[in-house]
Amino acid sequence: MSDIDTSINTNLLDPIEIQAKAQEIYLEGLNLPADETIKLIDSTIAHNYGLLMEDPIIRAEGPWLYTRTGRKIFDGVAAYSAANLGHNHPLVRDMLVHFLAHQSPPVLGRFLPDPFLALLGKKITEMTGYDYFLPANGGVEAPEAAIKLARRWGYKVKKVKGLPEIIYFTGCFHGRTLTVTQMLGEEVSLDGFEPFVAGFIEAPFGDIPALKKHINGNTIAILIEPVQGEGGINIPPDGYLPELHRIAKENKILVIYDEVQTGWGRTGKLFAWEHDGEKYRPDILCVGKSISGGFAPVSGILADKKLMDLFDPGSHGSTYGGCPISSAIAYAALHAIEMENLPKQSADKGKYVLSQLEEIAKESKYIETVRGKGMMIGIQIKTDAPDGHHFAEKFFEEGMIIKESHQWVLRFTPPIVATKEDLDFALGLMRKIFLEDL
Ligand SMILES: Cc1ncc(COP(=O)(O)O)c(C=O)c1O
Repeated sequence: MSDIDTSINTNLLDPIEIQAKAQEIYLEGLNLPADETIKLIDSTIAHNYGLLMEDPIIRAEGPWLYTRTGRKIFDGVAAYSAANLGHNHPLVRDMLVHFLAHQSPPVLGRFLPDPFLALLGKKITEMTGYDYFLPANGGVEAPEAAIKLARRWGYKVKKVKGLPEIIYFTGCFHGRTLTVTQMLGEEVSLDGFEPFVAGFIEAPFGDIPALKKHINGNTIAILIEPVQGEGGINIPPDGYLPELHRIAKENKILVIYDEVQTGWGRTGKLFAWEHDGEKYRPDILCVGKSISGGFAPVSGILADKKLMDLFDPGSHGSTYGGCPISSAIAYAALHAIEMENLPKQSADKGKYVLSQLEEIAKESKYIETVRGKGMMIGIQIKTDAPDGHHFAEKFFEEGMIIKESHQWVLRFTPPIVATKEDLDFALGLMRKIFLEDL
């Protein structure tokens, strides 16, 4: 007979004991002293990020973060645009309460049908106009999937012989996997990681003649952020993106827009491609970040049937990509984006912030220029002034997170739901810091 121990059964755990343990674990995190938090992060978590502060964040609402010691900090980068809807949007939060209360399965495996995935598919295709959505997790998985799809198209449809080539742009950011990390300009992102995946060609951003020079018979795709985020809020010249599309079409090349950062209202339209009109919709659209309202890692790509059908079962996938809890969260967040009319809020508030910043720039001896699209705003610091990092530290001391990009640009991309009063707080700090003698 079997000697398996039948007492090993989680159902036998006492529900009261489980409840108590759950609460204990939560409170353990909530109340972990600051010094212990920092010590544990430092001694157990890989050092691939530096910490801005030593006071743990324990609560967040809208654009505001609250620390253990009671500081209230304005999140001027909206968790790198993952929190366009603000932190803890009530619609997504309340949906999660229902989801958990009914014991819906958080994860299944994509071979089992899930109503939330079905609803997410319907909603996102209706909102974006694409036929299909391929769900994934972290933002970088979107350009990764787009690159795989483009390669398959290159071999099977364009019938490229030899190495298919994808053009990317100086100053871009598409994430950190081995495929796309090579596209980053900073030595620290490249050092010690070679050899990189072959077939990627760098072109200068915003320069049509230079782009043309890089195109040949093996070019299968152009991968671009319509506004470069990490690269320093770089907005291409008027007419550049439509011309890029025209050249791509002429040469049978796919256009991939990485809107992981610019999507979901950030630039004043639902997607930045919409600024140029329907004719210039990209073949593949990468989405991420705020598709989940900041509640979970959700990303993916959108494309029409002819293209997306090149992915058949077994060609691409991920255990958590499109799992029920991620799908339910994204489904709720998409409703919230619509109900908040996030693109309009972004366009209106962006205009206000930019005009105020232009006034500050006129009087400040530190600011070279300001630029922006919707609530995606960059402040170019003069190179004879203290650099962006210095200003970021100053702002942080005063109660606002604002991040430098490539030393001389400060990025201001707050939650789009920030009220005028919230934004006036941020602008007040800018007036104070940019107009004072440092
Ligand atoms: C345009 C763009 N693509 C991809 C990514 C990668 O997203 P993640 O950090 O979630 O992998 C980012 C992150 O900032 C991004 O800005």
